[in-house]
Amino acid sequence: MTSIKDKDAAQLSEGEAVKELARLAKEISGHDKLYYQEDEPSISDAEYDALRRRNGEIEARFPSLVRPDSPSQRIGSKPAERFEKVRHSRPMLSLDNAFTDEDVCDFLGRVRRFLGLAEDQELALVAEPKIDGLSCSLRYEQGELVMAATRGDGTEGENVIANVRTIDDIPQKFRAKKPPDIFEVRGEVYMSHANFAAINKRQEKAGDKIFANPRNAAAGSLRQLDPKITARRHLRFFAYHWAETSNLPGETHWEVLQALKAWGFPVNPLAKRCRNVEEALEFYNEVQRKRADLGYDIDGIVYKIDRLDLQNRLGFVSRSPRWAIAHKFPAEQAESVVERIAVYVGRTGVLTPVAHIKPVTVGGVVVQNVSMHNEDEVARKDVREGDTVVVQRAGDVIPQLVRVIEERRPKGTEPYKMPEICPACGSHAVREVNEKTGQPEVARRCVNTLSCPAQVVERLYYFVSRAAFDIEGLGGEFLQLLLDSGLVKEPADLFTLKDHPEDFHAVFKKHFESISARNAEKRGKAAASKKVKEDKTEYLVGNKLLAAIEARRKVPLDRFILALGIPHVGETTAKLLARFFHSWDAFIAALQSDTAVAELDEIEGIGEVIAQAIKDFFDEKHNRHALDHLLKYVEIENVAVQTASGSPVAGMTIVFTGSLEKMTRNEAKARAESLGAKVAGSVSKKTDLVVAGPGAGSKLTEAEKLGVKVIDEDAWIALSGTSA
Ligand code: IVH
Repeated sequence: MTSIKDKDAAQLSEGEAVKELARLAKEISGHDKLYYQEDEPSISDAEYDALRRRNGEIEARFPSLVRPDSPSQRIGSKPAERFEKVRHSRPMLSLDNAFTDEDVCDFLGRVRRFLGLAEDQELALVAEPKIDGLSCSLRYEQGELVMAATRGDGTEGENVIANVRTIDDIPQKFRAKKPPDIFEVRGEVYMSHANFAAINKRQEKAGDKIFANPRNAAAGSLRQLDPKITARRHLRFFAYHWAETSNLPGETHWEVLQALKAWGFPVNPLAKRCRNVEEALEFYNEVQRKRADLGYDIDGIVYKIDRLDLQNRLGFVSRSPRWAIAHKFPAEQAESVVERIAVYVGRTGVLTPVAHIKPVTVGGVVVQNVSMHNEDEVARKDVREGDTVVVQRAGDVIPQLVRVIEERRPKGTEPYKMPEICPACGSHAVREVNEKTGQPEVARRCVNTLSCPAQVVERLYYFVSRAAFDIEGLGGEFLQLLLDSGLVKEPADLFTLKDHPEDFHAVFKKHFESISARNAEKRGKAAASKKVKEDKTEYLVGNKLLAAIEARRKVPLDRFILALGIPHVGETTAKLLARFFHSWDAFIAALQSDTAVAELDEIEGIGEVIAQAIKDFFDEKHNRHALDHLLKYVEIENVAVQTASGSPVAGMTIVFTGSLEKMTRNEAKARAESLGAKVAGSVSKKTDLVVAGPGAGSKLTEAEKLGVKVIDEDAWIALSGTSA
């Protein structure tokens, strides 16, 4: 059955429309919050527009169902709680969208009908690039800037005047002898491509957040609590509209734009007065061609009816003016050349191939790195160094490699081969195998889980986690500081921290201060007066942490195995291994044998994939070194061998096969282990006893072939003393 979501608006019943409008209200409001308050949109503008369009279509069919919280009744989301709130003198609206030339003609048709204008009567438009930034309202009184507000929810925004004063493009004063008493200029704050690239580079170097696009960077920069930071971001501004005014310097939009320019405001130099729709559409195509070279993002063209008297007559419909429309550009693709395919190692050791392409502007943003996710993806698209490729920005944010243009492939190129060595540490990187299907997974992972620099934070975090070494107080942030300080490079180093108490406390102090500062910010007050007390507390907490580490120098075998972070070896497998081998030495001895994988595979509950992963881990010399270091400081507690006196099965290796009727397989296994036996999953020369129930197959045959003793369930019960 088609779900409501997938049904055309025209096919919905009234009941379905109620449900769908409720869903859309919730979904759109969630996206508004992400966009307006967190500067972190999760869907593309096109997808967002489609949601709103659907909402509008359903509401047009069922006007009585329009919800009070419908997106059509609101403009944006509520402002974030950081700046002083300000009410706009006039709402800050948004624009309806047009996606095709036909949509633009329809818009003009609607305008003419509304105004009662005949086809041959002049209807001039102003066409301007639609700047992809964030709108800002600037209030001037007697020509002086007195307030600057973000859009917020359209009715109420945030006063960001301190930050706006750092924007060079925005005049603090009107350049006029007799400025109007009141004039509110509206326009777009944006960030240039050049600046965006420079800022992201700086952010990356400092380990700070990387901005997804110039719009997000501009929004994040304008809403900084510290204006000094905003100043460093070099934001720009274009004026394109106004709100409250004591008098207007013109009768058309075009004339007011010229006045704004004369008063010292930047007005987009491309803005053009068009006499008819043909001129407007020609302008659209012309700007679209130039789009990549503008140096800032635009996402369409805005057409506005030029005469202000007509604008007044047209007025507004819900959240947008009837006198303007935004003609959006389609998602853009571009061609470039793959200069190199590099490989990056993620926090969990997964290798990701990334195509470094000759920088190219896609949809107004410079793209030079395109992730190709995994080696299968590279193979599927057969991307090679030197290839000409088509790239696009999905959702206008993440660049994607669409396809290779094979006709343009230079001679002598080779298919790409993923490295089998980790580029971060030189260890082996192996293709994982799915435990259930036995098929290779798409990911290739570095096996050096203990000291690969790319993985070390994540791995140490796992190492100290509750199920492993259980060291409380060692969070990810502090571990990162320890790594940055060079005090810790691998797990063993945690146990030598106490030998450098001064260095340790210096790092811990930094950590402690950043937590205190955060808490103080949360409380809304500086906690400076508590400084002395905090110094003392810091020292005590730091020492407590050192003691917590020291207390874990003795660790049970299963926790130790788990802490190593061997792929596929979780708590259950670690326990199985510990119970099977009893001691670290026995475990290591088994791993050193030539038949290690087969032996591990024999353990009940461990298959070949896990066995191979364990072997790979111990074969890697980087892991062995890190283990040698670790074992200098850690004492592993063996699992007690249950030599229940007189137990006839102590020390035996037992295999259960076929179905048991009087107890579960797990019960039988637990009983065998508690009596000091090992339970294996397959029969070999080392097997001492096979307990075979009905339906036993190849394992029984193998036992008979090897001459291993076979008993049935009743005999097992008698032998193990289990009563059914
Ligand atoms: S005119 C009453 N002109 O687009 C509407 N808006 O979706 C006044 N924008 O919130 C807006 N460039 O942030 C107008 N040249 C331009 C624009 C522009 C960008 C933004 C603005 C507005 C949004 C509407």
